[in-house]
Amino acid sequence: MRKAFIVGAGGREHAIAWKLAKDDPGLELIAAPGNPGIAAHARCVPVAASDIAGLVALADAERPGLTVIGPEAPLAAGLADELAARGHLAFGPTAAAARIESSKAFAKELMREARVPTAVAAVFTEPEAARRYAHELGAPVVIKASGLAAGKGVTVCSTLSEADQVVDSLLADHVLGDAGSELLVEEFMQGEELSVLVVTDGERFMPLLPARDHKRLGDGDTGPNTGGMGAYAPVPGIPPELLDEIGTAIIAPTLAALRARGTPFRGVLYAGLMLTPEGPKVVEFNCRFGDPETQAILPLLKSPLLPLLESAARGALTADALRWEPAYAVTTVVAAAGYPGRPRTGDPIALPPGEPDVLVFHAGTATGSGGELISAGGRVLAVTGVAPTFELAVTRSRETAERVELEGKQLRSDIGSRELARRA
Ligand code: AMP
Ligand code: GLY
Repeated sequence: MRKAFIVGAGGREHAIAWKLAKDDPGLELIAAPGNPGIAAHARCVPVAASDIAGLVALADAERPGLTVIGPEAPLAAGLADELAARGHLAFGPTAAAARIESSKAFAKELMREARVPTAVAAVFTEPEAARRYAHELGAPVVIKASGLAAGKGVTVCSTLSEADQVVDSLLADHVLGDAGSELLVEEFMQGEELSVLVVTDGERFMPLLPARDHKRLGDGDTGPNTGGMGAYAPVPGIPPELLDEIGTAIIAPTLAALRARGTPFRGVLYAGLMLTPEGPKVVEFNCRFGDPETQAILPLLKSPLLPLLESAARGALTADALRWEPAYAVTTVVAAAGYPGRPRTGDPIALPPGEPDVLVFHAGTATGSGGELISAGGRVLAVTGVAPTFELAVTRSRETAERVELEGKQLRSDIGSRELARRA
């Protein structure tokens, strides 16, 4: 196969494009809509990731051997279904299987059915019943919009009056529109989080390196939840037995439940987990590569990516074990002023000079009228440092991220620091 098509415009898609181009410099890559970073590896076509008909028409015209769908929104809108119906091979689940991310109510129901460990929760559309249940659970309590909200639909409420307010903002004031017209009131789980991503053909699955996201905006895990402000992989100190348990108790039964419903899941199944004293429990599922986890995971993958994704898309996942660099990767996100609320855009960006073992993935960037690089979204760049030691990977990522010039930029200077403290 000599041509691949990547849908999306974020740091995750830049990392995918970078990896595909690195594996096979002869591969013809197209991206829609892409971004200035992706443009170094791919021909970018200005079709939005939300324009399903436009993306299908582009695939019809280009006839790629594989289409890799990055973001959740086109998956939830049925892009994989539409491409398959027109004879294109696509990596990413059908809309029915993508409901595991696009409806948290559906995901909870599926987990109950499959006996997958997760937090106790109930689904509500009426504010009064939701508030009553939150008071039954007691603070802290978690309120989640059921629909897609770009990582911003979850509030961990430390008091019941905060929970009341969040319930009202979603169900009475409709601050997230339809995404929040149904919500979950959920038990708070204590522990450290872990992101386990597997590539699957619906039945068999291949785990990628375990990663850790940093969801809160501020240092020390303070401030609002975001799409993710940094990540690292692999997570030190995760024993292989724990990953086996996650495979057996969480991933396999979830895939089996989706198959049993007649909606097998092909693509990346991302389990966001809480490592609780009672064992790993699911916080959420995503139906795609994580962002920014992918920017930390793919730089360590030695095996070629395309055959892996292609085999999963065909329903015949390769049996070849994945090979990984014996190294660590740490990613620091550089976000715009105002993120995660209303990010400021259109500001010039000056990138520091390139350094070995540091990768700068573009996310919310664009090319200005004079050809200059400008900000165009909330998360602007993802800076990954790769090194044989965790410490050095942390330093490489942070120092380069700090040298990025962008007015009002926000970044966490503590990605990986809890890990460092543990080691000290
Ligand atoms: P989600 O979008 O469901 O992954 O939630 C975003 C973030 O909120 C998670 O990564 C956790 O940090 C936090 N969170 C969600 N649900 C819970 C829970 N039940 N207990 C504790 N923290 C949670
Ligand atoms: N990093 C969290 C996500 O991709 O949703």
